[in-house]
Order: sequence, then structure tokens, then C-alpha cells
Amino acid sequence: MVPINLIIKADNLVKRYNNLTAVDNISFYVKEGEMFGFLGPNGAGKTTTMKMIQCVSPKTSGKLEVFGMDVSTHQREIKKYMGVVPQENNLDPDFTVYENLRNYSRYFDISMEEAEKRIEELLNFVQLIDKKNSTTEYLSGGMKRRLVLARALLNNPRLIVLDEPTVGLDPQARHLIWEKLRALKKKGVTIVLTTHYLDEAEKLCDRLVVMDYGKIIVEGEPSQIIKDHIGTGVVEVDNYPELVECLQKSDSIYEVMGDIIVIYTNDPVHITNQLSMECSLDKMTTRKATLEDVFLKLTGRKLRD
Ligand SMILES: Nc1ncnc2c1ncn2[C@@H]1O[C@H](COP(=O)(O)OP(=O)(O)OP(=O)(O)O)[C@@H](O)[C@H]1O
Ligand SMILES: [Mg+2]
Repeated sequence: MVPINLIIKADNLVKRYNNLTAVDNISFYVKEGEMFGFLGPNGAGKTTTMKMIQCVSPKTSGKLEVFGMDVSTHQREIKKYMGVVPQENNLDPDFTVYENLRNYSRYFDISMEEAEKRIEELLNFVQLIDKKNSTTEYLSGGMKRRLVLARALLNNPRLIVLDEPTVGLDPQARHLIWEKLRALKKKGVTIVLTTHYLDEAEKLCDRLVVMDYGKIIVEGEPSQIIKDHIGTGVVEVDNYPELVECLQKSDSIYEVMGDIIVIYTNDPVHITNQLSMECSLDKMTTRKATLEDVFLKLTGRKLRD
């Protein structure tokens, strides 16, 4: 059953660029106050989907509503309550940190006085107050990303849509962004994000989808997705022919990944005992199953063109 308090609702959404179907008939919903992730290999259609939600790229067909309004007819109203972090930092390099924010605030119905106040607060929030008068061209990658996040918050949005918010950031900057996103979520802000960092998605997202070739191939809560597709544990062993033969005789679910064999299991102790007794194997690594295991299992190992 689809819940009522939906911030985004997509039904059979399609985006075509000439002959290419970048988003291929996807349906999903995002509930108020949740953190929702879009994962998928390069070219899967994540950014294309974000751009349709952000009302900057028109859909080809299907339905897409944000705050209960149609993205094709209510762009202005939707944008008023939405914050956007695009995949590429589109800051004005000639202006200072302060000026970038000040110029952006003019798109919204915010008085000069109010804008000044918010800019000050937001620069403190993303820890950039010391850089207020620096030209953005000379900021580091992590600082630019934090500035784009501050910019997305200028209009006090109910929804923020972030396309790879932490790409290329060092662990400190990533953790800071996570902390800020959690603080916003606590305030009731709905958050939609894309990421290639699967640990990030696992930690942050209440629900997520994995896209591939324009389609949604899995949807759900991270822990449930892992349980459904992998189990709770993974045993990794070196790949050699006798072991494959031995595994074929057992009822293990495994995958050969180059020189490593990955065994998916809910009972790693049983599997390791079995392997050491039946296959005379003593070198094994046991670890918790992760979203990355699911991602690779479902989308394969082949690089996307
Ligand atoms: N403006 C455009 N014109 C033509 N094709 C496009 C355009 N924008 C995106 N595409 C194509 O649409 C497909 C989906 O691209 P999209 O940017 O949505 O992928 P993505 O999932 O965001 O990938 P990444 O992880 O690399 O950012 C790709 O094949 C891409 O080449
Ligand atoms: Mg993208």
C-alpha cells in the first residue's frame, strides 16, 4: 500500500534523449521526512531522474508529482520549497562565498535582511564562515561541495535533492555532510540523494532503489535488501578448481569473482566448518554482508560504456 504523506510520487516515468531511453518506465514514492537513495552504475539514469524531480528537465511520459504537484505545470511552486545540490558544482568562480549565496537568494522571496541572517547561519552550519570573503575558485573540492549544500538550504526547503553530495570528499568532509543531512532530517526535511558510496547509502538511507539501464531493479530498506539478496554473512576464499568442484557438491550459494570466491550465507560458522572438513580449506575470511555485495550481485561486474 502506498502511504498518503508523499513528497514525491512517480508512476511509469520515462525520459528519452532521441533514441536513448535514459529513464525507462520507473515508479517510486518518497515519504515525508525520510532519506531516500538512488544507487546504480554510471549511466543508470540517476541524474536524469534527479533533474526531472528538480524541474530542470522535462519528462517524456508518465507521472511525476512533487509536493502533490505536477512537475510539468508547477515548476515555480515546487522549486520554492526544494533545495538542489547538482552533480557538478555550478558555483560562480569569480564571486566570493558570500556573494554566491547572496546572488542565489534573489531567486527566492527573501528580504535582504533575512538573507544576510540565513547566510551567516548556513556558513556556520557547513563550517565555512572563515571563507566568507574568499573567491570560490580557490576553495578546495570539499569546501565547494559544502558551499553548494549551504546554497541549497537558503530557501529553508522541505525537500532537498542531492546528486552525489559527497563525491571526491575526504572522510572528514563526508562525515560532516552526513552529520548535516541527519540534522536536517531530524528537523523533518525530506532528503533524496544519489551516491556511489554504498556504505553511505547503507548508513543514511531509510529506503533506496538500485537503478540499472534506466530501470529500478530493487527497492526497499537497506538491511532488508541485504537480507533478501545475500543473507547476513559472506565468506571469501581463494579461487582454485578443486574448491569450485567441492562447492558445487554442497548447497552453498556462491559467486566466482576472479581469483576470489564469495559465498553468501546466513550461517558463516556452518559454511566455514563445512569447507574446512569437506574441502580441506583453512584460509577463509568471514564478514558481514553489505549493500555493495547486493549491488555487485544485481548489476554485475561489467563496466558500463
Ligand atoms: N542531455 C543528454 N543528452 C543525451 N543523453 C544524455 C543526456 N544526459 C544524460 N544522457 C544519457 O542518459 C543516460 C543516463 O545518464 P545519467 O546522467 O542519468 O546517469 P547517472 O546514473 O547519473 O550516471 P553517473 O553515475 O555516471 O552520474 C546515459 O546514457 C547518458 O549518456
Ligand atoms: Mg549522475
